[in-house]
Amino acid sequence: MSHAASKNLSLTLKIWRQAGPKQPGSLKTYNVSGISTDMSFLEMLDVLNEQLIAKGEEPVAFDHDCREGICGACGVVINGQAHGPDSGTTTCQLHMRRFQDGDTIVIEPWLAKAFPIVRDLVVDRSAFDRVIQAGGYVSVNTGNAPEANTTLVPHHVQQAAMGAAACIGCGACVASCKNASAMLFVSAKVSHLANVPQGQGERSKRVLKMVAAMDAEQFGNCTNTAECEAACPAGITLSNIAQLNREYMKAVMCSKE
Ligand code: SF4
Ligand code: FES
Repeated sequence: MSHAASKNLSLTLKIWRQAGPKQPGSLKTYNVSGISTDMSFLEMLDVLNEQLIAKGEEPVAFDHDCREGICGACGVVINGQAHGPDSGTTTCQLHMRRFQDGDTIVIEPWLAKAFPIVRDLVVDRSAFDRVIQAGGYVSVNTGNAPEANTTLVPHHVQQAAMGAAACIGCGACVASCKNASAMLFVSAKVSHLANVPQGQGERSKRVLKMVAAMDAEQFGNCTNTAECEAACPAGITLSNIAQLNREYMKAVMCSKE
């Protein structure tokens, strides 16, 4: 198997710099060179930050943790697209081979009222945590992993639950939506637990509480433009939003909660 030889890129970066939540922000231009096409996007930012530190300048603040597409920490908007140009890819999984020598790359934070900017590319996504705290749990003791056939779950139901469980809570769905709606995120969490036997006890209470928490955090409404689905690195589909709407209607009309 042959591999494309790595190349070095020189790039112009336009990066949102903002010293604090109440400070004015603006795009600042930086030139970086010697960026290997084998590097990840975050490694490219590491190189820039090393250069800034060597010059006595403030490094660019950006969120990251696992760098493996698991934790959901690393979201930025790259050339207008949440997590950049590749589908099903987090910012940390994006490689510099996706760019050409001489390219200009614009890098901005998630922009949403419910995600206030902390500094530079870092936003406060604790609104997601509060939505989860409102109902994204089960109160039954699930104990140790049971034998696989103890509780029978039909394959298509298990597939729906596991598909929804893939959400990493990154917030790209909010950042890519013109209404800054959190419906894809909330629908993934609601669908996941609504589709497993352990989630039945709180099924109605969960959807009512999580939708109320979502509204209280001032996320916008869903108008079915599907930008969220296109931006989602975890493949969460709009069918989860359809299920969220069904779960909500059923809870409003039939639940005693
Ligand atoms: S639904 Fe997708 S885009 Fe939204 S938080 Fe979950 S993984 Fe991220
Ligand atoms: S750093 Fe964890 S998903 Fe990117």
